[in-house]
Amino acid sequence: MFGKIVFFIAFRFICVQSDSVKPQLKIIGGDSVRNRSDFPYQVSLRLKGSHFCGGAIIDHSFIITAAHCCFNDQEKPWTLKYLNVVAGDLNIRNHLTNTSTRGVKKVFWHSDYHSKEIENDIAIWEVSSPFVWTKHIQPIAIANESVKSNTLCNVSGWGVTQYERNTIENTLQFIEIPVNSKSSCRKIYPEVDYLHVLCAGSPGKDSCQGDSGGPLVCKGHLTGIVSYGINCGIFPGIYTDVYHYRSWIRSKVRMSLGSKLNTNLTLIISILIFSIVLNL
Ligand SMILES: *[C@@H]1O[C@H](CO)[C@@H](O)[C@H](O)[C@H]1NC(C)=O
Ligand SMILES: *[C@@H]1O[C@H](CO)[C@@H](O)[C@H](O)[C@H]1NC(C)=O
Ligand SMILES: *[C@@H]1O[C@H](CO)[C@@H](O)[C@H](O)[C@H]1NC(C)=O
Ligand SMILES: *[C@@H]1O[C@H](CO)[C@@H](O)[C@H](O)[C@H]1NC(C)=O
Repeated sequence: MFGKIVFFIAFRFICVQSDSVKPQLKIIGGDSVRNRSDFPYQVSLRLKGSHFCGGAIIDHSFIITAAHCCFNDQEKPWTLKYLNVVAGDLNIRNHLTNTSTRGVKKVFWHSDYHSKEIENDIAIWEVSSPFVWTKHIQPIAIANESVKSNTLCNVSGWGVTQYERNTIENTLQFIEIPVNSKSSCRKIYPEVDYLHVLCAGSPGKDSCQGDSGGPLVCKGHLTGIVSYGINCGIFPGIYTDVYHYRSWIRSKVRMSLGSKLNTNLTLIISILIFSIVLNL
C-alpha cells in the first residue's frame, strides 16, 4: 500500500520478541518533563514489566492506546496477565514514588484495525481497578472538535531519543509539534486516508519507537495517538485522529460500564426472585 516507502515505515512501538523486550528506536528533539503534573494523563504500558508503548488515561478505569500495542509480532493478542499499566511515574527505571500500577482486565481494539494498511489504529484498555486521582494521575478529555493545521500540540513518551540508538529514555520526554496540513502530508504519505489520521511534526521534532499509543494533546484535549512514521525526526509522524473516533470511544467505555451494571442488575433480580420463592 505504501509503495516505495514501505521499507522505512515502522510502528512506533518497541519490538517485543517472544519473551524479551528489545527496545528499538523516543521523542526526538524534546525535553525532559520536569513536573509530572503537566502530563498526568500519560501512562506506560508494560509487558512482563518492560515498557513497550504509551497511552493516556481517559476515565477512572480506561486508558486509550494504539491497536498495534495490543498484538505481538505474530499478530496474536498479548496474554492479559503479562500486561500492566503504570500511571504517575516520571522515570521508568525508578518508579516507586507517586505511581500506580494496574493489571489489565479487558482490551478492546477497533474491529476494523488492519495491521498491514495500519488503519483504525486505536484501542481501549480497561484496568483491573480504578485509578485514584492525584496531582500526578488525572484523565484527559477527548478532542471536542477537529484540529486545524498549524495548531501546536504536545506529544510525550519514553521512546527513543535518537533513531539509531537502541535505548529508551528513562525520564518522560515531551515536545511541541504542529499539526501539518493534509496537502503537505499527502506528499509524504500519499495513500493514507486523512479522514482517520493526522500528521504532525517538524524537522528534528518527532515521536519515535517506544512512543506508540502515546498522546498528542492539543488545547488540552487528546487529539492524536502515536501510530507510525518513516524513520523519526525527518518526516512528520502519523497519528490516529481521536476526534474521528469519539463515538467509538464512548461506545466502548459505556459498553464496558454497561456490562458491569447488567451483572449487578442480574444479581439483584436473582436475589429478589429467590427471596420471593422462599417466602412463598
Ligand atoms: C507543577 O504543576 C502544578 C500544576 O500544573 C502546579 O500546581 C505546581 O506548582 C507545579 N510544581 C512545580 C514544582 O513547578
Ligand atoms: C512525588 O510527589 C511529590 C509531591 O506530590 C513531589 O514533590 C515529588 O517530587 C514526587 N516524586 C517523584 C519521584 O516524582
Ligand atoms: C471544546 O472545548 C473548549 C474548552 O475546553 C471550548 O473552548 C470549545 O469551544 C469547545 N468546542 C466545541 C466545538 O464544543
Ligand atoms: C507543552 O507542555 C509544556 C510543559 O508543560 C507547556 O509549557 C506547553 O505550553 C505545552 N504546549 C502546548 C502546545 O500545549
